[in-house]
Amino acid sequence: MSDLVDTPRTPTGCAILDRMLGGGLVEGYCAVVEGSPGTGKTTLGLQFLIEGCKRGEPGIAITFEEFPEQYYDNAEQLGWDLRKLEAQGLLKIQFSDPITFLEGLEDIDGHIAELVDEMGAKRILVDSVSHFERLTGDASTLRRIETDLVHALKREGLTSILLKENPHVLGGWDKGDNRIAFIADALILLRYIELDSEIKRGIVILKMRGSDHEKEIRQYKIQPNGIVVGEPFQGVAGLFVGAARGSDKS
Ligand SMILES: Nc1ncnc2c1ncn2[C@@H]1O[C@H](COP(=O)(O)OP(=O)(O)OP(=O)(O)O)[C@@H](O)[C@H]1O
Ligand SMILES: [Mg+2]
Repeated sequence: MSDLVDTPRTPTGCAILDRMLGGGLVEGYCAVVEGSPGTGKTTLGLQFLIEGCKRGEPGIAITFEEFPEQYYDNAEQLGWDLRKLEAQGLLKIQFSDPITFLEGLEDIDGHIAELVDEMGAKRILVDSVSHFERLTGDASTLRRIETDLVHALKREGLTSILLKENPHVLGGWDKGDNRIAFIADALILLRYIELDSEIKRGIVILKMRGSDHEKEIRQYKIQPNGIVVGEPFQGVAGLFVGAARGSDKS
């Protein structure tokens, strides 16, 4: 399926998503996971780090959330004991602010590089890059921040998932707000989909640099132990513009 079939892959912890990606994220890739509020971005990001813990690939989560306890509690609801993994040296949850984090990434001997060395970290989650938008109103400055971020993560040899908030609840894609999607190697969208008077969840891979990938929109559920991807939606169109309808209808 993939042009990069022999390239080492980094499994995400979600078997069907890995299949959609042609075997997982390419090692060293930077993936953006973009989704509306509550679609499961943090869940998928943590699932990726937990999978790393299982494989002896330590991970770092950088979160700009203001309530650390809630982060641990939400993970516990999903069956993940983040404190235990931290005690085992497999995980580091770093509550930070965007400026401190970016300063810590600037130098090759900065705080993040130190952490990577100490832990032997291979994976990183940034929850979420939308916070960088509040640092500047200037589009070119933001693009430089985002480009520097992606380069620094690659310099550290990390495979990364960057979470990106989408303010639209149903559908919508604002190109102006999604510059980072152009910089990243892979782009995964999580969406609410209104279909048959129900709100379902849909996942699709829009981009995977240098590699083929599945193009179908699949249903997914959030369950203990994370996101479980199911079957593709059948016979519907308009799913990702918030206007799902039977594809056989005009
Ligand atoms: N144990 C669980 N079982 C089933 N569903 C759950 C469980 N825990 C959380 N959820 C679902 O996951 C959703 C939140 O997931 P998550 O926090 O990963 O989303 P998010 O996209 O990061 O949200 P935000 O935009 O607020 O950061 C909840 O709204 C709930 O529907
Ligand atoms: Mg979240």
